[in-house]
Amino acid sequence: MCGIVGFVGKKEASPILVEGLSKLEYRGYDSAGVAVLEDGEIKVRKFKGRLKNLDDNLKQSPLNGTIGIGHTRWATHGEPSDINSHPHTNENATISVVHNGIIENYIKLKEWLKKKGYEFYSETDTEVIPNLVDYYYKGDLFEAVAKATSKMEGSYAIGVICKNEPDKIVAVRKDSPLIVGLGEKEYFIASDIPAVLNHTREIYLLEDKEFVIMTRDGIEIKTEDGEVVDKEVFHVTWDVDAAEKGGYEDFMLKEIHEQPKAIKDTLTSRVLKDSPINLENINFTKEDLEAFDRVFIVACGTAYNSGLVGKTIIEKLAKIPVEVDIASEFRYRDPLITDKSLLIVVSQSGETADTLAVLRDAKRIGAKVLAITNVVGSSASREANHVIYTWAGPEIAVASTKAYETQLIAMYMLGIYFGEIKGTLSKEFADELKEELLQLPEKVKEVMGNKEYIQKYASRNYMDKDTFFLGRGLDYAVALEGSLKLKEISYIHSEAYAGGELKHGTIALIEEGTPVVALLTDDKLKDKMISNIREVITRGAKVLGIAYEGDKEAEQICDEVIYIPRTSTLLAPVISVVPLQLIAYYIAKQKGCDVDKPRNLAKSVTVE
Ligand code: G6P
Repeated sequence: MCGIVGFVGKKEASPILVEGLSKLEYRGYDSAGVAVLEDGEIKVRKFKGRLKNLDDNLKQSPLNGTIGIGHTRWATHGEPSDINSHPHTNENATISVVHNGIIENYIKLKEWLKKKGYEFYSETDTEVIPNLVDYYYKGDLFEAVAKATSKMEGSYAIGVICKNEPDKIVAVRKDSPLIVGLGEKEYFIASDIPAVLNHTREIYLLEDKEFVIMTRDGIEIKTEDGEVVDKEVFHVTWDVDAAEKGGYEDFMLKEIHEQPKAIKDTLTSRVLKDSPINLENINFTKEDLEAFDRVFIVACGTAYNSGLVGKTIIEKLAKIPVEVDIASEFRYRDPLITDKSLLIVVSQSGETADTLAVLRDAKRIGAKVLAITNVVGSSASREANHVIYTWAGPEIAVASTKAYETQLIAMYMLGIYFGEIKGTLSKEFADELKEELLQLPEKVKEVMGNKEYIQKYASRNYMDKDTFFLGRGLDYAVALEGSLKLKEISYIHSEAYAGGELKHGTIALIEEGTPVVALLTDDKLKDKMISNIREVITRGAKVLGIAYEGDKEAEQICDEVIYIPRTSTLLAPVISVVPLQLIAYYIAKQKGCDVDKPRNLAKSVTVE
């Protein structure tokens, strides 16, 4: 995810571009840059890091020009650096481009362009675009962009400027968002509406392969064959704040709703029916796996909770014993990690201090480190020997939701991958799991249909002082995550217990009316879990069950039940955690808490 903007009009472009980018930082903030036509020349300023770096630079030494394009980056191809930042230009700076998306065939295009004498300087996929446009440029920018995009595979929203046509921006999208803002003798392009709302509420919502050609005198939308498209103007009625959250009240709710897409993106091209799992650059052999003396999963917070699921999955599918630990504990324990061990670190941000410390200690010892992280170019991704990216997109709410879901997906992929290499997993079972994995986005979407029911549950229970979450097996790992979500955003004391362990102390806290959330997704352990539910009901607890659709027994024993679609027991956490996230969210909202920025917490904990 990146954000792009463009402006042509009579005002100075760079302050307008920077202000537009500030509304798109939620899409990524690894670097920011602008290209402005100043005295007939394309001038580029771009810097690694937050938009502030660019803003400060432009304030000190402004670029003067009334047409330009801008970009805020969430790195995918190439680490965050000045050189990998956008805009990208061709060698003699006659064409400049900002891009959001991924050009999947960029290596092929790059090789082809190199043979034609083009030079490349960055590690990005984007750099092929200005060179391709230059190659096809014969005096008409629209035609050159149309030809260039006909050769590009993948997704893109691009804005292009050209030294030889200094009054024009050409833009187009395919599978990445792009809108056009219509002002008085001034026009805008942007990845999202908030970027233009301070200037206009009149918008064109572009469809795939619609080309925008805009000068300060007017705007045209064309198909790639040059036919003019008659577009309806969309009038925006909502305010900037709501728009940044895509109409959702909070980032957390938005991110919960983004989970089906995040899961799908994380699975894409790695899990295919009837093919072995493909984890990009990770190539372990059977000998490598058998040579590991120990496998550790180490993380903090929600990422640690995903590791608990990972342990069960890897042990079950690949028959490799796994130890899971909290990073801040592990590092001071003199762990038995050696140069023959495999350390898996899990970190949304890739910057959590304790997790990084463990990673560095392990590397010093000579262990192999595999990082599961959401942020390309993060310290974890750079320092680990192997990386699995979770493609959840930027997660802004402090309480992690979509990152957790994609961390679980990474664990499943790893478990199956190891199992396939070691031969501990039958092809039939592997295929069944892959098929079910691919169905998860739809199933998660289905759970969201229970929103209103959960909202009502929250309105009855938000005054509670304590809540207990119970589960066995993987349900216990999910109970821990549900309990963490509730306490971190609603400030209600909550604890998660393994169903069978409750009677060894915690049950003393159960009294008349104590809320208990019980997970019942493991068929093999269900009878045991039902006995545990009876134990708490006998002591006065009011129990909400999370069970598969059609589970009549759950309905008979629990006070209320939230039903979820059936899936393989191993994959159930991906689905059963969703109602728990929504319970925490709605309870916190009822209490009037700031769900996105809970007190005392931070999104990324970069201190010990
Ligand atoms: C903080 C965040 C949590 C996150 C944890 C680990 O506590 O609030 O949401 O799970 O850090 O962060 P990481 O970026 O390493 O996953």
